Amino acid sequence: MSATSPVIVILGAGSNIGQTVGKFFAGKGYKVALAARSLNEADSTENQLHIASDFSNTDDVVNVFKKVNSKLGIPSVVVYNASSMSPSPAEDPFSLPIASFTKTLTVNVTSAFVAAQQAVEGFAKLPESASKTFIYTGNILNVAILPGFLEPGIGKSGAAHLIWAASEAYKDRGYKFYYVDERKPDGSAIFRVSGDAHANHFWGLAQSKTQGPWLQSFVKGTGYKDCGPYKL
Ligand SMILES: NC(=O)c1ccc[n+]([C@@H]2O[C@H](COP(=O)([O-])OP(=O)(O)OC[C@H]3O[C@@H](n4cnc5c(N)ncnc54)[C@H](OP(=O)(O)O)[C@@H]3O)[C@@H](O)[C@H]2O)c1
Repeated sequence: MSATSPVIVILGAGSNIGQTVGKFFAGKGYKVALAARSLNEADSTENQLHIASDFSNTDDVVNVFKKVNSKLGIPSVVVYNASSMSPSPAEDPFSLPIASFTKTLTVNVTSAFVAAQQAVEGFAKLPESASKTFIYTGNILNVAILPGFLEPGIGKSGAAHLIWAASEAYKDRGYKFYYVDERKPDGSAIFRVSGDAHANHFWGLAQSKTQGPWLQSFVKGTGYKDCGPYKL
């Protein structure tokens, strides 16, 4: 693989979306960096870096970018896929302990903000032709409430706002920001997401030259679908 091969970093890379997206982009000639709590750095190879990280600590996000920049090169595609939640009692969501709430917001929003800061710092140094794409794996919770899902709902809503604002602020520089939300064909929420469908969709977003709709609801096998306002 050439020294100029593009680089993708996946923050929060497990066996489904993370690994599948990594394999897909590797097949297209990308060098891949995967970061998650249970990854072992000793399993890294020349073209695939594994970085043990816990994004309940924002310093770990900065550490990922330092390692990726020095070992593989500046990433042109950044995927933020980590998420955290504790179920909240449906009838009493405010009984959640503050420590749990804070941790979820750190993983779902604050660390994504730091990742976006790092991504943009890198994008500015990449050539014109580079992809410069930041993707946040979302779900329906930025437009819907679900009983028991207060923490992740606040987290995904905050991240959706971050992505929306960034998609406007950076579009003239050619940086693309997406909140991706897989849905069922009828537009309702899906609970078992498809790693393959995410890999295909992320590839399309990384390939496109200009910013498309920041809110990328999509359906496996069909692609982007404007799901409109959610009806309970
Ligand atoms: N569209 C929808 O309706 C929908 C439905 C379900 C899920 N989702 C979203 O899909 C994403 C996850 O999908 P997946 O489970 O298929 O992906 P995955 O790549 O199989 O797993 C994500 C990985 O993130 C890592 N992670 C979690 N917390 C972390 C932390 N604090 N620090 C570092 N890494 C962390 C975990 O690995 P370690 O345990 O090793 O850290 C986990 O295996 C989430 O963003 C979730 O909200 C969307």
